Amino acid sequence: MASKRKKIAVIGGDGIGPSVTQEASLLLALYRDKAGLPIDLWELDLGADRFLRDGVTFPKEIQIAIQRECSAVLLGALGDPRVPGLEHARDILFGMRFGYDLYANVRPVKALSDRLVPLKDRTMKDVDFVVFRENTEGIYVGMGGQFKRGTPDEVAINEDLNTRKGVERIIRAAFEYAKQNKREHVCMADKSNAMRHAHELWLRVFDEVRREYPTIKSQHLYVDALCLHVIQNPAQFQVVVTNNLFGDIVTDLGAALQGGLGMAASANIHSSDPGRVALFEPVHGSAPPLAGKDIANPFAALLTVGMLLTHLGWPEEERRIEQCVSQAIDERMCTVDVGGHLGTRAAAQWVREQIAKQL
Ligand SMILES: NC(=O)c1ccc[n+]([C@@H]2O[C@H](COP(=O)([O-])OP(=O)(O)OC[C@H]3O[C@@H](n4cnc5c(N)ncnc54)[C@H](O)[C@@H]3O)[C@@H](O)[C@H]2O)c1
Repeated sequence: MASKRKKIAVIGGDGIGPSVTQEASLLLALYRDKAGLPIDLWELDLGADRFLRDGVTFPKEIQIAIQRECSAVLLGALGDPRVPGLEHARDILFGMRFGYDLYANVRPVKALSDRLVPLKDRTMKDVDFVVFRENTEGIYVGMGGQFKRGTPDEVAINEDLNTRKGVERIIRAAFEYAKQNKREHVCMADKSNAMRHAHELWLRVFDEVRREYPTIKSQHLYVDALCLHVIQNPAQFQVVVTNNLFGDIVTDLGAALQGGLGMAASANIHSSDPGRVALFEPVHGSAPPLAGKDIANPFAALLTVGMLLTHLGWPEEERRIEQCVSQAIDERMCTVDVGGHLGTRAAAQWVREQIAKQL
């Protein structure tokens, strides 16, 4: 066990973010207090409430302090109907993803119970792959503009930015993950038949990088075909690598195979510099209609803590969290969206109690 203490910044954010993050923080506190993991939590008051109160989104000094002092950030979700322009969400989320150059958004699509798999004749064994979503480029960089806004001649443009460096490093990260985790197959999905310039780059780089990994099988699919195959036979996928937009969409599709967005965890990392601060967040958003009702599923946030602990050097704890969440699902000690009857707090507490018994 590492002896140097690791600082984790915690940002609840908006909507259901603070309540699921509170449960995830309590799990981290359990590991600190009962298992003696050398971690410290640093709660940050950032999100829509703070923005509406004093106009602050993501102060530069906080951004720098996180980078200098923290090993990880745990984030809930951002997005609030009172801030329709999403200024705070963009500054905080992109301030970390882009600002810390966290180019790999790693999203496991893993079903933890047969009961959660909605496909006929499929079980949890069939749903276990990891999506590597490029996280710093593509259509999310905000390049573009509007011309003659509000007139019948209006023009709206968003540019899809793809760099050789960006494409190469995410594809390599996917192959490296496969190599290190004994996965035998990597699939790259693009739309190079329609997006001849940008995605031809993806195709060419994929062809180059895969030659460096002769023991790993590789496949290219157009992203529409990927969606078809993921539903027809998810078991054929082990590692999928794709761009920012497609990764966002494909992982919501994947979440549907895991039991919904309440079950999907994610990490944002700089794969080739693992010592750099990394960001961990559930895949789901702030789900405003569920906020303040104690009904949001906290398991995505708890599973996200598992990914965070693996990143900090305690992979056995990710397995323990997964196993206890799986047990909660099987015993229906979970929220309504996954077939249980408990509220957010009680479901998370039940899982923490199972973990505490084992520590
Ligand atoms: N990374 C992020 O912070 C992030 C990601 C996605 C969306 N958002 C923002 O969140 C807001 C809402 O967006 P949306 O509705 O498209 O996506 P959402 O993920 O908030 O909700 C989509 C659907 O999933 C359900 N859901 C989500 N999380 C759940 C949970 N933990 N338990 C049970 N059900 C859950 C919701 O009820 C809804 O039906 C928007 O402002 C959006 O911009 C933020």
